Amino acid sequence: MILQPNEVLHQGAGLTMNHLLSMKDLNPETINSLIEEAELISKGKVPELRKKFTAAYLFFEPSTRTKMSFEMAAHRLGISLLNFVPEHSSSTKGESLYDTVKTLEAIGTDLVVIRHSEDAYYQDLKDRISIPLINAGDGKGEHPTQSLLDLLTIHQEFGKFNKLNIVIAGDIFHSRVARSNAYALSKLGANVYLSAPDIWQDDSLPYDYVSMDEAVEMSDVLMMLRVQHERHGSEMDWTKEEYHQMYGLTLEREKRMKDTSIIMHPAPVNRGVEIADELVECERSRIFKQISNGVFMRMAILYRLLEKGAI
Ligand code: CP
Repeated sequence: MILQPNEVLHQGAGLTMNHLLSMKDLNPETINSLIEEAELISKGKVPELRKKFTAAYLFFEPSTRTKMSFEMAAHRLGISLLNFVPEHSSSTKGESLYDTVKTLEAIGTDLVVIRHSEDAYYQDLKDRISIPLINAGDGKGEHPTQSLLDLLTIHQEFGKFNKLNIVIAGDIFHSRVARSNAYALSKLGANVYLSAPDIWQDDSLPYDYVSMDEAVEMSDVLMMLRVQHERHGSEMDWTKEEYHQMYGLTLEREKRMKDTSIIMHPAPVNRGVEIADELVECERSRIFKQISNGVFMRMAILYRLLEKGAI
């Protein structure tokens, strides 16, 4: 079923931001309206864009899920994509990110999606460009589109956020997913807890820490995080097996979870490290559901920014 623009989809709440940079910027009304739109899209109610748009995806860090699902979302909405390959671009000659984006804007690109290793890289861009920018991950800052697809997945499961016990567990310090989800979930009324080895705790996040043994018993949603080896200066203090036994979701710990609890993970997964291999696709895992939801949520976001001009 094809909807006409503005027919059923939300008008959006507070149409003021023409970028999606941080979950700190979104109020609960806007988050809920995006979830509602993505739900409609998941049921086949695909919105139609008024005109032909062109977007460019600039991934300066590796990605499978985010980049591919943004590409799939563009295909389904009829958005044309420019092929930007960082290592073949003039950024290798020293061109700044700002000049790269201004160049794409001058060429006629309607929207950019950027993943970059620098925390808050977007601060230098957001007030100086006139096309929408979607943050697809900034260093260890935030990953707002991952958070929104995670929120869609939780909402599909429980129909609410209020009073849910959500434990985000693992390499908290290096995780942009942890930050975006903690900000958003607490704003939506969930009880947010963190679980991490001492060296990967982040004191700037105002949430209580629990052990993994407490986490499995108390959580409605247990959100495991990838151990981000590429952001560590040195080897882990533990072998993979030691980490798994001390801080991971083992087969034994999963047995102590509540019947109704679910397991999430943004992926890619280190099987056998933060989560037992067998649990990645177990009955209570929503890991591949999250990936499917990424396409629906990114369609909702692209539609909102291109058609309405604001999130
Ligand atoms: N979850 C996530 O961001 O995965 P990718 O790094 O593969 O995009």
